[in-house]
Amino acid sequence: MTVTAVVGTQWGDEGKAKIIDLLAAENEFVVRYQGGHNAGHTVVVGDQKYALQLIPSGVLYSSVTPVIGNGVVVDLPTLFKEIESLESRGVSCAALRVSSRAHLIFPWHQALDAVFEAGRGDQKIGTTLKGIGPAYADKVLRIGIRAGAVLDAQSFAEQVRARGEVALQELQSLGADTFNLDEVVAQFSELATRLAPYISDTVNLLHDAKDRDATILLEGAQATFLDIDHGTYPFVTSSNPVSGGATVGTGLGPRDIDRVIGIAKAYTTRVGSGPFPSELTNALGDALVDIGKEYGTVTGRRRRTGWLDTVMLKHAVRLNSLTEIALTKLDVLDTFDEVKVCVGYRKRGETITSYPDRSEELAAVEAVYETLPGWKTDTVGVQGFDELPAAAQKLVSIVERETGVPVTFIGTGPARDAVVRR
Ligand code: GDP
Ligand code: IMO
Ligand code: MG
Repeated sequence: MTVTAVVGTQWGDEGKAKIIDLLAAENEFVVRYQGGHNAGHTVVVGDQKYALQLIPSGVLYSSVTPVIGNGVVVDLPTLFKEIESLESRGVSCAALRVSSRAHLIFPWHQALDAVFEAGRGDQKIGTTLKGIGPAYADKVLRIGIRAGAVLDAQSFAEQVRARGEVALQELQSLGADTFNLDEVVAQFSELATRLAPYISDTVNLLHDAKDRDATILLEGAQATFLDIDHGTYPFVTSSNPVSGGATVGTGLGPRDIDRVIGIAKAYTTRVGSGPFPSELTNALGDALVDIGKEYGTVTGRRRRTGWLDTVMLKHAVRLNSLTEIALTKLDVLDTFDEVKVCVGYRKRGETITSYPDRSEELAAVEAVYETLPGWKTDTVGVQGFDELPAAAQKLVSIVERETGVPVTFIGTGPARDAVVRR
């Protein structure tokens, strides 16, 4: 097993980074394959907490080469802020490699993100306003600027100016905030010089590594139901977080991936708008927010919360070819009187167990639950499956029964060692 992909199976923030941090100890490369600084990946090591947005979570190990793959959109001010912050804490980023094919985010992408959101009125997606959608749009329109362009400083400055002039006209016509193009060209020319040493042909880098049986971990950001194709469109991000995106976003082929781990919270959360069948809009939902500390790592926004939904998980197994599931944040449920799991949807009086293809359909279904007694026992830090209370074990077995996939990790706290491995 040399290549492992880790993907979110819900709407993000499942605790992917904690599992990646665990696995990074066993891998030589950790690679981000899509998304950008809309991600917020938290790793807790002892009394230190790291909230990473762009740099792969494996950076904390000196044995790991962190790679930003071609499928990522890179915001250079954020990248260097993150590098500075990590290095000031004694974490070297010297080994970081950034794909020459990755696209860059510019200030106009953020301005466009804001103006598009404002124009949606009460149909806002609730984006992170990081310019992710507009940057991917430029890529698809074939007018984006790729990271490799920084290797020729003069041509890079010309490309930034030319694209910037068009963006200014676009923003003016939309009545949006504009920017000073000379300042942007100067700022990005300086950032380009700093980026140049990190640029790499990461496709060949990863294939060469694979050819010598190096271990590679592919770090998903966002999640299956935020996927531009398979998520709750239009309430999605603008990339493919599913495992297929891990091939497109790194240049590895589908048969190169040996293992796909789907990360699922023992309940469900979502930031931003869109359908959420098992949502709790009552005191139980508030309790999940409080106990689970469900506030966004990047935007600080309160996350919406609800019970675990195995209809979604089952669909995530199909979409990602999951070979296993990591069930995180089990400990957050420790104090609940009852724990529910959604095992089907009721639609016009009929129960369905397959995931609907249209967001409108998903918004109209009612969740059907299986109810477990609460275990009312502290599980924080538990490492042995046999030490978990029976009802907690039962929750794990329901997930395995409904999805047909083994649960190989169970999260019992934010700390690195708070996990059951099976
Ligand atoms: P990611 O985006 O999927 O990497 O997840 P985030 O880092 O945005 O959010 C997950 C949050 O849950 C972070 O604050 C983690 O420290 C925390 N966390 C991860 N696993 C566990 C767990 O098993 N139990 C508890 N209580 N917290 C966890
Ligand atoms: P991690 O990797 C949770 C959500 C936003 C919004 C939608 C589109 O930490 O799990 P975008 O800025 O991408 O255009 O926003 O996607 N979103 C996330 N939600 N976790 C994330 O990343 C997210 N990245 C984007 O809230 O609803
Ligand atoms: Mg997150």
